[in-house]
Amino acid sequence: MPVITTIEELRLLAKKRVPRMFYDYADSGSWTESTYRANESDFQKIKLRQRVAVNMEGRSTATTMIGQKVAMPVAIAPTGLTGMQHADGEILAARAAKKFGVPFTLSTMSICSIEDVSKGTDGHPFWFQLYVMRDRDFIERLIERARAANCSALVITLDLQILGQRHKDLKNGLSAPPKLTIPNILNIATKPRWALGMLGTSRREFGNIVGHVKGVENMGSLSAWTAQQFDPRLNWGDVEWIKKRWGGKIILKGIQDVEDARLAVESGADAMIVSNHGGRQLDGAQSSIEALPAIVDAVGKQIEVHMDGGIRSGQDVLKARALGAQGTYIGRAFLYGLGAMGQPGVEKALQIIHNELDLTMAFCGRTQMDTVDKSILLPGTFPQ
Ligand code: GLV
Repeated sequence: MPVITTIEELRLLAKKRVPRMFYDYADSGSWTESTYRANESDFQKIKLRQRVAVNMEGRSTATTMIGQKVAMPVAIAPTGLTGMQHADGEILAARAAKKFGVPFTLSTMSICSIEDVSKGTDGHPFWFQLYVMRDRDFIERLIERARAANCSALVITLDLQILGQRHKDLKNGLSAPPKLTIPNILNIATKPRWALGMLGTSRREFGNIVGHVKGVENMGSLSAWTAQQFDPRLNWGDVEWIKKRWGGKIILKGIQDVEDARLAVESGADAMIVSNHGGRQLDGAQSSIEALPAIVDAVGKQIEVHMDGGIRSGQDVLKARALGAQGTYIGRAFLYGLGAMGQPGVEKALQIIHNELDLTMAFCGRTQMDTVDKSILLPGTFPQ
């Protein structure tokens, strides 16, 4: 096996090893994918200032997110169907995150359940991402399950009451487990590692949902299921209701606009994630890194601001941190590692990003994450 040194190599390997419908699900954005592409390409426009003859000894990328110690300002983002990229994917990614000392966020739309992940990581605390569905009894029970599993933050996603259209998912007939149509069988036959893994696990459905939401035996297509179950009336009153029930740390995900950022502060949340859902919802929205500075400027003194979208390297993490993000999240970058090689692949993705972050911070003349600010960026190359 060749030595892997970039997230891009993990992506290429995942593309070979994961059935097309699940690889495509991870690796696509909505409609023209312009926001999806901008999330990555806008990072490239930002230039770093190299400093020389600065003592680089004793470096550390450690910092905190919502007051919790992290080995670097990177958390694993909540991603749907992770257990379809690789058998038991959520458990494996959570173990890699635990080993590395970064937070793992479990999606409501995961294959492994809250209880599976808790058991699989010996009760290590993780973060739970909550989608607000019409069935409020189910939401109450989910919150209780997250509490029982020792989750140390609830991440409420605010930008997915309805689903942005991803063409490939519709064309591939995305479902979990995959329907055994002839094209799917032919495609899966070319992915023996994946198939073998799946045969060895019983976790092939949406573990938090099937058997927990009345009348749901399986989900059919993701888009149809979302339209049926997700609550299109979601509003700030619901955030207040959830906050009261949960009583612990709350992170609001999906903020792009300064006015919404101010409302997020008013809600009393502990942090917000500047995010366009990986370019999977409103196509045509600005990239996350472009949206970040105005939000930090408006509310950064009142609330912790995090970001996700387009992070494929440690350089990207450093740029986001320089523009005021206390923390960042990787979604696709860890999914590629998972699809490529399971837990070692997620560990590899984290190592690659950590190594890039550490060396790049040093080239910019800094040895501690908390001293990274806008002054490491070349004026005129970054969004204000
Ligand atoms: C779910 O969060 C999705 O983006 O598909």
